[in-house]
Amino acid sequence: MRFLRPRGIADGFLRDAGSSAGTSGCVRGRIYELVRGGAAVARTPLRGVRFMVTSCRAVLLPRFGGPEVLELRENVAVPDLKPNEVLVRARAVSVNPLDTRMRSGYGRSIFEPLLPLILGRDISGEVAAVGASVRSMRVGQEVFGALHPTAVRGTYTDYAILSEDELTRKPESITHTEASAIPFAALTAWRALKSTARISEGQRVLVIGGGGAVGFAAVQLAVAAGCHVSTTCGGESVERALAAGAQQAVDYMVEDIELAIKGRFDAVLDTIGAPEMERIGINLLRRGGHYMTLQGEAASLADRYGLAIGLPAATAILLKKQFQYRYSLGIEYWWTYMRADSEGLNEIRQLCEAKKLHIPVDKTFHIAHVREAHEAKDKRLVPGKVVLELD
Ligand SMILES: NC(=O)c1ccc[n+]([C@@H]2O[C@H](COP(=O)([O-])OP(=O)(O)OC[C@H]3O[C@@H](n4cnc5c(N)ncnc54)[C@H](OP(=O)(O)O)[C@@H]3O)[C@@H](O)[C@H]2O)c1
Repeated sequence: MRFLRPRGIADGFLRDAGSSAGTSGCVRGRIYELVRGGAAVARTPLRGVRFMVTSCRAVLLPRFGGPEVLELRENVAVPDLKPNEVLVRARAVSVNPLDTRMRSGYGRSIFEPLLPLILGRDISGEVAAVGASVRSMRVGQEVFGALHPTAVRGTYTDYAILSEDELTRKPESITHTEASAIPFAALTAWRALKSTARISEGQRVLVIGGGGAVGFAAVQLAVAAGCHVSTTCGGESVERALAAGAQQAVDYMVEDIELAIKGRFDAVLDTIGAPEMERIGINLLRRGGHYMTLQGEAASLADRYGLAIGLPAATAILLKKQFQYRYSLGIEYWWTYMRADSEGLNEIRQLCEAKKLHIPVDKTFHIAHVREAHEAKDKRLVPGKVVLELD
């Protein structure tokens, strides 16, 4: 296989090489330079994009199914950067429940016509190239961030493309592996607590499922905001939640949540979304409080009935619940979805730097073992966060 790279640049890593002149030629209208031990890169005529990778390694999802459908392929084309986009040399990408669900067919109403997909939302790595209008990133900078849930070209690849506002500087105090575990889960929690419920100091927050990545991030965000936090989680997560500043951590396997948790809350983030949890969460809210579930039904209804019927049906169900809870109990009811948010990502970075936010990594796999990593999550062999490493 032949590789291309600007001369004088460290292995597998692209810097703004300016006028470097390697062995050059032309492919698809781009000037390229031959190198050893890296990916195929090209000098493009686009202003602001000095070097572009033209192909790289990526895990493709050609069809929905079990972990065996995942294919690690070489020479997968890398699209040109749009002006606001950043090419990131991935060092670590984490596995989120959305990845394994998408692999199994969740969201097929949207994704099936777009196969093959590249899975993966989270990333930590280095900036390899920037689009013409990108101002806040420079080539070589260490960054971390997460793609929007509906992105088709994900992060299970050596070179991922994210928009400028989906990335921020990686905290120096943490490794790429640790950093990659954080953004998608923490941004989901941030969107619920900070953007939707607008929690503030002194409020009471209940996190249902504080043992998971989103739940644990939510506990830490709420504690950092000066809230009084209660959470439900498995027995093994109780100590960790308390150490992170939760006032109460209830083991849902052995305790009756309704008896154990007292008083009313300003916000309930339900990462589990089972009907029984929803009933309990709603009953624990004070008037004016916010109930937010991560298990909105838009994608599952669209998968079942098609986009044309499923999405309006989901909207009708949500509006009905919102109306019902607002007028009977004075409660705001939300389906929360992760969304890239540069303000949130910057706050998350600052909390990581201040050691107020982290998500423990349970196990790492090399990207070549992505099938084993997905199998480990499917079979619940690894309860905590799994990260794929690319070096
Ligand atoms: N809507 C969105 O945009 C969005 C974004 C991110 C995630 N999600 C969804 O949110 C859920 C959590 O995501 P995640 O990344 O945090 O997953 P995760 O890290 O795998 O966490 C799941 C955890 O939930 C806990 N759990 C299971 N049943 C429970 C119960 N009855 N009560 C309390 N805790 C329970 C378990 O922790 P213990 O060890 O404590 O038992 C488990 O580890 C997933 O379903 C995911 O698909 C949605």
